[in-house]
Amino acid sequence: MPLSFRSANVELYCLECRARYRPEPLLYKCRRCGSLLEAKVEPVEPVVFSGKGVWRYSSLLPTPMAGSEPVTLLEGQTPLIKAKRIAPRVEAYIKLEGSNPTGSFKDRGMAVAVTLGKAWGFWSAIAASTGNTAASAAAYTARAGMKCLVLLPRGKVAPGKLFQALLHGAIVAEIEESFDEAVRVAERAAWELRLYPLNSFNPWRLEGQKTIAYELFEQLGEEPDAVVVPVGNGGNIFAIWKGFAELKDLGLISNVPRMIGVQAEGASPLVKAWREGSDPVVEEPSTIATAIRIGRPVNYKRVLRAVRESRGALVSVADSMILEAQKALAAEEGIGVEPASAAPLAAYEMLVNEGVIDRGEKVVFVATGHALKDPSVPLHYRIHRVASIRDLARLLE
Ligand code: F0G
Repeated sequence: MPLSFRSANVELYCLECRARYRPEPLLYKCRRCGSLLEAKVEPVEPVVFSGKGVWRYSSLLPTPMAGSEPVTLLEGQTPLIKAKRIAPRVEAYIKLEGSNPTGSFKDRGMAVAVTLGKAWGFWSAIAASTGNTAASAAAYTARAGMKCLVLLPRGKVAPGKLFQALLHGAIVAEIEESFDEAVRVAERAAWELRLYPLNSFNPWRLEGQKTIAYELFEQLGEEPDAVVVPVGNGGNIFAIWKGFAELKDLGLISNVPRMIGVQAEGASPLVKAWREGSDPVVEEPSTIATAIRIGRPVNYKRVLRAVRESRGALVSVADSMILEAQKALAAEEGIGVEPASAAPLAAYEMLVNEGVIDRGEKVVFVATGHALKDPSVPLHYRIHRVASIRDLARLLE
């Protein structure tokens, strides 16, 4: 049965060959050319931003008609914090996505995707994950009263995320292979077992994530010059770009910010594809930032488009730089993030030195996930033994 939306027209379309489709639950690839499909929502007039959670932006979202209540845990409205010390040559802001209900930006996408899955009548969902998608899918399906199966690469998921998936009652399954293989299995299982897919190839999830752009616009009162985002599977950088492109179409901003994607050196298929035109594939991805340990990003065409059309860039950073940036953010600004979320800041020096961002520009670094997600990172922090006040005094010397 077709869903009724609040907006007069919600459709799926192919950015590559321009084919258009009416929304269907398991339709996310173009039947003509095989590319992933995007959602197009005709805004509900007048466009107003009011209320809480991602549904604050419901006039620009695929909002179901009354009768199917939107699923929400009041995600979004995350702090935008002006940096004091860590990126002095630009006007730097940190978007604290770790403040979402399950501690990452995934919650925005899950609110919308789970709402539609539920409205379409699914009772069970599936997601492959490096961890955060699993935690968020588990919480939002729990909220919606649905079952959730999450598929994880064994031994490669940070303990906080695994704990969250289990805590929220997801059925947790592990495979010996990589995340990339888990995505393939999840996609097939969605079809064969009639499960609602919650990976970022699902266009409705990206509709939720595009609200990061709307919020940045509301918080800054204008668009930033550049937005720096960690990139794994590539859904998020595209979603943020899409959000800004829509604001431009609405006449609310005059320029779409440059989208700058940052990958970990050992898992940087998109940086290679961007520079060398090679296939976006790394066979054995490896990085301490397990969230973005991805070798075959399903959203590669989306990423390349967002970066190209916004005149942005794709760069990679070494794990040592990621750990240094994670520590600097925490110890110099008071902001705790997981390793993947420190990748944008790790690229700061390089981006300024290479002229990708200019002095004085307004730059947003998207801090995608909370520090507590991954307490396993072997940083060489010192813990001191003390037996007296004098010992304590010595520590301060
Ligand atoms: N940052 C964090 C903390 C993430 O968990 C992810 C992705 C990304 C950045 C990259 O976002 O894939 O849209 O480019 N995590 C996924 C997961 C893959 O399964 O939790 P992307």
